[in-house]
Amino acid sequence: MKSTAEAPTSSLPALIGQAVDAIDTPCQVVDLDAMERNLARMAAFASTHGVRLRPHAKMHKSATLAKLQMQAGAVGVCVQKTSEAEALAAGGVNDIFISNEVIAPHKLQRVAKLAAELHARGGRLAIAVDSLQGVQGLAHALNNPVADSLIDVLVELDVGHGRCGVATPEAAVRLARVIARHPALRFAGLQAYHGRAQHLRSVQERRDTFSALLAKVKSACAQLQTAGLPAALVTGAGTGTFAFEAASGVYGELQVGSYLFMDADYARNESEAAQPQFEHALFVKTQVMSACATHAVCDAGHKSHAIDSGLPRVLGKTLEYVNGGDEHGILRGDHLPAIGDVLWLIPGHCDPTVNLHEYLIGVRGGLEKGTIEQVIRVDARGAVT
Ligand SMILES: Cc1ncc(COP(=O)(O)O)c(C=O)c1O
Repeated sequence: MKSTAEAPTSSLPALIGQAVDAIDTPCQVVDLDAMERNLARMAAFASTHGVRLRPHAKMHKSATLAKLQMQAGAVGVCVQKTSEAEALAAGGVNDIFISNEVIAPHKLQRVAKLAAELHARGGRLAIAVDSLQGVQGLAHALNNPVADSLIDVLVELDVGHGRCGVATPEAAVRLARVIARHPALRFAGLQAYHGRAQHLRSVQERRDTFSALLAKVKSACAQLQTAGLPAALVTGAGTGTFAFEAASGVYGELQVGSYLFMDADYARNESEAAQPQFEHALFVKTQVMSACATHAVCDAGHKSHAIDSGLPRVLGKTLEYVNGGDEHGILRGDHLPAIGDVLWLIPGHCDPTVNLHEYLIGVRGGLEKGTIEQVIRVDARGAVT
């Protein structure tokens, strides 16, 4: 594949209506056809299994894609950060769950303000907590007259990841009691997500890890019920385990994120027969800028794609991508590409890759002969507060 077209005439890496050839490199590109198939498969799965879908927008950070997911049946989206919630709300997303703890008083003021705004628009804000300090800070912020709306509060239970979350079902009940005492807060259930379980390679390992976490979630639900504070919702799941959550009879909502773009790391998971298959939809277009007898060098280094979950794969080639630094990728293999050749990289990890780019260039009709149909802004790029 040679790149033949003129460079784009604006600061954008490509313009709507141009052919794929015209996309400047390195550039983040979405195969819209593949993405829409992923979108439809997950929406159909959730609907067939009678669970709500609330995709994690930390992955794409785009109001356009969040709204697309909601049009396909999602009840809303999750985010991890206050600033992500603000960026997506500004882009017209009305139902947002901050599936994470917020502690700083000035940030809780922003959470309260956003809760009021979404409420006024007929939407809803929800948030996770795992400490008395978090609940009290939130209640204090909501007592401010600027933010007198209710907010849904979910107690996060650590189900084995060893990150945030109360350690025991008893602690979850204690926190739920405190939440229920505050008129501005509504106890809405449990946040129960196990991140590391998503990337266990065999189905059996993921199934076993899920069985253990489900026992803990069930115990918390039973103890909440006994305390007169039933969990209206248990929410969690990622692209590696969602079939188990959906079949559990306990989880009511799936927070899957990566399924929409599918990165190289997720492709290393053994696939589970009970779940739909997803296609790679996120790529970095790159061009070979140097070549010699032993290797070639492309113009996408790790400023163009995240490497925390491994290096990218090269689509359709037997080339090995070796880390060449910030701006270079080294390619090794028996059939090296020539200077000027275009390659498509499948990033190791989609979430932090997307965060490196201002836009997602949406291509319709395939990566070889397609056309640029959409330039999608990464609204919450860099929104990490
Ligand atoms: C709390 C939470 N829920 C859901 C997800 C979505 O997981 P995945 O992208 O693996 O589908 C993540 C991802 O990191 C997460 O942190």
